Amino acid sequence: MKQDLIVILDLGSTQNTVIAREIRDLGVYSEIHPHDITVEELKAFDNVKGIILNGGENRVVDGKAVQIREELYELGYPMISIDYPQSKCKVQFDQIPDQETLEKFIFGECKAQANWNMKNFIEDQLELIRQQVGDKKVLLALSGGVDSSVVAAMLIKAIGQQLVCVHVNHGLMRKNESESVVKVFRDELHANLIYVDASERFLGKLENVADPEKKRKIIGGEFIRVFEEEARKLEGIDFLGQGTIYPDIIESGTKTAKMVKSHHNVGGLPEDLKFELVEPLKQLFKDEVRACGVELGLPHDMVYRQPFPGPGLGVRCLGAITRERLEAVRESDAILREEFAKAGLDKKVWQYFTVVPDFKSVGMKNHARVFEYMVIIRAINTIDAMTASIEKVDWDVLEKITNRILAEVENVNRVCYDMSPKPPATIEFE
Ligand code: XMP
Repeated sequence: MKQDLIVILDLGSTQNTVIAREIRDLGVYSEIHPHDITVEELKAFDNVKGIILNGGENRVVDGKAVQIREELYELGYPMISIDYPQSKCKVQFDQIPDQETLEKFIFGECKAQANWNMKNFIEDQLELIRQQVGDKKVLLALSGGVDSSVVAAMLIKAIGQQLVCVHVNHGLMRKNESESVVKVFRDELHANLIYVDASERFLGKLENVADPEKKRKIIGGEFIRVFEEEARKLEGIDFLGQGTIYPDIIESGTKTAKMVKSHHNVGGLPEDLKFELVEPLKQLFKDEVRACGVELGLPHDMVYRQPFPGPGLGVRCLGAITRERLEAVRESDAILREEFAKAGLDKKVWQYFTVVPDFKSVGMKNHARVFEYMVIIRAINTIDAMTASIEKVDWDVLEKITNRILAEVENVNRVCYDMSPKPPATIEFE
């Protein structure tokens, strides 16, 4: 291993990630593990320099206070405990110690080196992937989102042609998005990439379906079916690559923390398609995933792109999807993105997109009455997507975007700006 490791054992704290971040910010790699880790599991890491027992409000599970295995104390690793009265550690804290104290423990007592950087992390992961996979093949659903793209880049570097990427174009991608996935991964990184154009199939299934939840279920279910069909055509695949990142694991619940939301994993694949998972980003926070992508040489636009929902433009073409309104969403979104980039707003605003409702309004074009759709622009800022405020976009920028949409997008005669914060509105419309 290229870098030293400080292990945080989760004894019910809600602050595990805060400490992990603080330690990583000091340049030392840190991972969080469950309280009941065994001696063998711990010894399997050859780079542990110290352990932090991190207790807290979730310490009691099923009526019993969680404990670490007694044998762990015998291993001789430097150890401190936080908010864990049952500890026997010599040094105990009631709350997270200040930075100076933490530094004394990590660099003084543990003698850890500040050698946590992306280059070393990647080298470690490449070695671990090669050990895990051997000469077998790995399948990866490559959506083109940040996480799946970074995993793909990592796996290509680790195992080259043993990786098989499948990109499913569900017809609800943004303008030129699938083309860019093919260009970057097949043409530039020489990945073994299967491109599936399933647009017609998805649009067919979605015909006349107006209910948002039904639309989402159809898109999600069909996606799994298409991916499964491709997986069945391939032979000798034992592993499935996944862009799981650390917040996904936390939100799915740990041994001491309750689930926030279910993790979007491969739960939908049939039982007989059994794969072992390869998840090289599962210890990274989102900003670290982006840094990893940059280090692996992915284009800046791909790594720093704004969040995009799995059901894609399907939830932005409101109500029952039609081709003409879907095109209006796609074209207006492309104009919005282009103009935001020109105005420097792409680096400032968290998420921005357009939607097209399924009703028309009266207007006038070339001195004649028209009855056409409207485009609504939404631009918001948030920290965690749980609450959001609107971006107060400059009027001149909005006017320019409006004029371009009205001139360049067919079937549109009106542009509106959404002023609603979340709550009560959600970020997406459906
Ligand atoms: P809402 O609309 O719930 O959105 O305020 C919060 C954030 O989540 C994104 N979003 C999704 N992301 N799959 C995703 O990966 C989805 O189905 C999905 N739905 C919403 C949304 O774009 C916003 O950033």
